[in-house]
Amino acid sequence: MQLRVVTDQPWDVTADVLAIPIIGEPTFDGPLGELNKRTGGELASLAEFGELRPKRYTSAVAASGELAASRVLTVSAGEADKIDRETVLHVGASAQHRLGGRHARSLAIWLTPLADVLDGGIDAVAELVARGVVEGSFEPKTLYLDDVATAPPVLDELILIAPGADAGSAQKAAERGVIMGEGANHARSLSNRSANDVTPEVLAQEARDIAERHGLWIDVIEPDRARELGMGMFLAVGQGSDNPPRMIVMRSGKEGEKDSLDRHLAIVGKGVCFDSGGISIKPSERMEEMKMDKIGACTVIAAIQTVARLAPGTPLLAVAPAVENMPGSHSTRPGDVVKALNGKWVDITNTDAEGRLILGDAMTYAETLGATHIVDVATLTGAVSRAFGHLITGAFGTPQSWYDEVVTAADKAAERYWQIPLLDDYVPDMESWYGDLQNAGSAEGSLIKSGLFLREFRTVPWAHLDIGGTGYFRKTTPWAARGATGVTHATLVELALAGAKG
Ligand code: BES
Ligand code: MN
Ligand code: ZN
Repeated sequence: MQLRVVTDQPWDVTADVLAIPIIGEPTFDGPLGELNKRTGGELASLAEFGELRPKRYTSAVAASGELAASRVLTVSAGEADKIDRETVLHVGASAQHRLGGRHARSLAIWLTPLADVLDGGIDAVAELVARGVVEGSFEPKTLYLDDVATAPPVLDELILIAPGADAGSAQKAAERGVIMGEGANHARSLSNRSANDVTPEVLAQEARDIAERHGLWIDVIEPDRARELGMGMFLAVGQGSDNPPRMIVMRSGKEGEKDSLDRHLAIVGKGVCFDSGGISIKPSERMEEMKMDKIGACTVIAAIQTVARLAPGTPLLAVAPAVENMPGSHSTRPGDVVKALNGKWVDITNTDAEGRLILGDAMTYAETLGATHIVDVATLTGAVSRAFGHLITGAFGTPQSWYDEVVTAADKAAERYWQIPLLDDYVPDMESWYGDLQNAGSAEGSLIKSGLFLREFRTVPWAHLDIGGTGYFRKTTPWAARGATGVTHATLVELALAGAKG
């Protein structure tokens, strides 16, 4: 896809579709009035008909009259005072997603109305809209099928219209947005692939291919070495499957190298290629969704690739423990007691609380490789989606200053988090009769307990992003297809890039 920022007026831009953001209840004066005039009053007539209500991400396609573009597409951004970075991202994504099944080769988007209301102006809008268009083009059906009639069109050209702007600077911003969007889509493609396709070894091979393409260091730890190292929790989860586990470790920069913020950041992602629950087996309803229990791993693998594309050499470690959690005669049994890499003895009271086991060893391993700061991403609990739904990610962190740094990156990335407390009062509930602690504990406060468990397996500043609700959508939205969403990819990339050198 060619990307072009132009400073022409929107009525002069030739394209198959001209997308017009609508802010609040539109009034047809200024440039919007001119657009309306040249469409022969089509926009005002749409508004009168009730088609342009200020409901976010609603859209309409209409004839273009005398405009240079062949058709117009309105996308509502809602009320001006509620428009934030995420809104702008979703307006871009909605424009492209709305074109699903339509025949269009070029899409032009008029940025001015959004730039007038967003801090950061044209450059911020160019980046977010470009990223949105790329993310809005994602369609999971195309993973296995060649001809998907309803898929968003493959664009030859995306034209961003910014009269009066510094086109060069907006172009650079938009290019960054495209790369961010491509990274999120790469994470989504890997995440959506089924468990008969993506085993831990296949995920490791995907990581090796990425490492080779971008000159990243990679180490894939197989079960024999994991045993020598003492990764008892990681191995306990993987041992029930014929598809052996892989601890995938990738790095940009040198071993232990500090970034410009004096950090050696590690991003750690849960890679459960299928979570049946193991012997603590899950109900069959919706079990098929548990092929997406590897989203965290796919996200950190994609994120280190995106960082390598945007700022090669930035110190960053990505650790992705990949396993299949399966029942069988070799499986871990409820009540099995294993020794974690950090020396703690863990009583596995529930084999379905497996994510925290593999992440615990992965975080300890990241520290042995010099990590000074850790963020982990995981579809860790169902509880987080019951609490927060699909639109905001539940997160933990300690110390608070590190959590706050993650949130700063998240704001830039146009992603939302809500902090969950690490309430020490629940620690006694995680006590075991036999080991240092158990992995599940009673149902009360189970979401908090998931964080408390993980906290035991790191010593450096750490944040945990539970994408059990936000990691994949069951229903399509105006801005996104069903399936993996790519959430947290942009946050991780912004967090790492904050420490980029030079
Ligand atoms: N992968 C699941 C969490 C999950 C469930 C994510 C549904 C997205 C949708 C995780 O491994 C799990 O099974 N968690 C248990 C923990 C419990 C056994 C303490 C849960 O949430 O029920
Ligand atoms: Mn589970
Ligand atoms: Zn799981």
